[in-house]
Amino acid sequence: MPHRPYIIDQMISAKSIAAKIENLAREIEQEFQGTDKLVVVGLLRGSFVFIADLVRELDLPVEVDFLEASSYGDGMESSREVRIFKDLRGAIEGRDVLVVEDIIDTGHTLAHVHDYLETKHPACLKSIALLDKPARREVDYRASWTGFEIPDEFVVGYGIDFAQRNRNLPYIGKVRFTDEDG
Ligand code: IMP
Ligand code: MG
Repeated sequence: MPHRPYIIDQMISAKSIAAKIENLAREIEQEFQGTDKLVVVGLLRGSFVFIADLVRELDLPVEVDFLEASSYGDGMESSREVRIFKDLRGAIEGRDVLVVEDIIDTGHTLAHVHDYLETKHPACLKSIALLDKPARREVDYRASWTGFEIPDEFVVGYGIDFAQRNRNLPYIGKVRFTDEDG
């Protein structure tokens, strides 16, 4: 449990997220038009809500798999050391792969996952992140698609947690501690 009191200010509404996902889905459909070998890989746990909404917008034959990689503990700072906790269930050799992430912060997680998945020889490897905090980037990683660029704020909701809480909020909000000024 987070030990400091905080409140959550809405930053991106559920409606805006849904509209963005519709647009992203149309672009993804174009990119993967005609393929029957797409595997959409969600990074656990933060992407579980996003991937659920995204795949339901995709008018393509898709398979879904999950990978758990983590650089964060329960704090607010990236450890910069990425570990794979749970590997894919299926093989992706020769497949078209779309990695789905909740948020790109320092970039370490997606850069590491990208290199890791490349070793499995997919035919094509693309990535999508709902949120992007470009101001925090430490490694030059660019996702194929991003939903929203956001400022350097700690956010929760729509799958994204603070010490495992708040994943169930239907919108994206920023954390504001109430035991300090501002
Ligand atoms: P990166 O490796 O620094 O790019 O970190 C990416 C991961 O850090 C994301 O998958 C999130 O799990 C976590 N993360 C980054 N920013 C936030 C945030 O604002 N709120 C909650 N988790 C975050
Ligand atoms: Mg994550």
